[in-house]
Amino acid sequence: MPKRISKVILGVGGGIAAYKSCDLLRRLQERNYDVTVVPTPSALNFVGTATWEALSAKKVTTQVWESVDEVRHVKLAAENELILISPATADLIARIAMGRADDLLTNLVLASSAIKVLIPAMHPNMWNNAATVANIALLQERGFHVMRPATGRLTGADSGIGRLPDTSEILSYLASVIADTQDLIGKRVLITAGGTREAIDPVRYIGNRSSGKQGYAVAQAALDRGAEVTILSANVTLPDPVGATVISVESTKDLEIELERHFQNTDLLVMAAAVADARPTHVGTEKLKKDSYREISLVENPDLVAQISQQKRKQIIVGFAAETSLNIAEANRKLLAKGLDLIYLNDVSTGEIFGSDSTQGVFITADGKEIPVSKSNKATLAGQLLDLVISKLN
Ligand code: C5P
Repeated sequence: MPKRISKVILGVGGGIAAYKSCDLLRRLQERNYDVTVVPTPSALNFVGTATWEALSAKKVTTQVWESVDEVRHVKLAAENELILISPATADLIARIAMGRADDLLTNLVLASSAIKVLIPAMHPNMWNNAATVANIALLQERGFHVMRPATGRLTGADSGIGRLPDTSEILSYLASVIADTQDLIGKRVLITAGGTREAIDPVRYIGNRSSGKQGYAVAQAALDRGAEVTILSANVTLPDPVGATVISVESTKDLEIELERHFQNTDLLVMAAAVADARPTHVGTEKLKKDSYREISLVENPDLVAQISQQKRKQIIVGFAAETSLNIAEANRKLLAKGLDLIYLNDVSTGEIFGSDSTQGVFITADGKEIPVSKSNKATLAGQLLDLVISKLN
């Protein structure tokens, strides 16, 4: 089932245009969005709680100090797929850009990985002020979608840029953001994450340092873009991304079985898991004593991605390679040998990659393009990876 955005937060900033968001709320409800309104405390000077509660038929609070037992900012952040802020005032934009969390709405924005859309409205001097210009640029860089205000008559006698656009214009802007960001609707994405473990005996195993953070970041990015996501999760302790099907595996054999089970039903396979290259030839049924532990004989594991790519029909396959030096020739060899469409050569020479939130390296495509990635967040890398395969997927 393709995922459609249904749960939306309507954030309301403390500007006179707040009253226009009552109509916006109505129009969103008509389009079957399930909307929760989160005004800032100052927005209530323009439109009060009673109006928002009556229109949304939901409880409306502005501070984390209300309904503390519900941990509302985290709950709302996890439940909602999109945060639309209208009007976004200069102060609210500045607070979000600074990463402040001084009311429920800014807490929620910080805690959420949802699509974020700002509809600014303010006096032209405030809109053109260098501080606002810089804050908007920063937020756009971080992935916020910002609609340009309309030009025309303002609240006082002035006119200029800064008016809140008409509701119908806001709705079509929103539709275009959703269409752009939901470019994986109808696609099935299979992601392997973490590291496989090979039992030596009931107590010990051979494993690796892969945390699963990169695979989970790809899963989250694919979910955000509307894909149906299955994660084959090898020994990962991270929380399951909401909306993904997560299947736990331990060994390379387990992963092989699940890959075989799901591959044909997949459009995109991302092999982010670190697969153990070998396993003990014999697994002790009881805990091995020290003297029999001096030498462990190993047998090589199959290369799962090389194996599964033999069955490739329309699937796009992305692999990862962790290297302690940026060996492009070696990455190219792996790309070919494993039947990949794209490989990310992860530079682990600094020792920072495993378990870290950041990564650096280079993407290499099957047609020989090299795209260097300077130190980036794993979520940013996930977005880049999906951008690189999207045209092939369609
Ligand atoms: O050869 P190397 O381990 O560097 O290759 C890494 C890529 O190959 C990753 O995408 C990993 O998931 C995959 N791999 C595999 N089966 C193995 C070893 C690695 O699918 N036995």
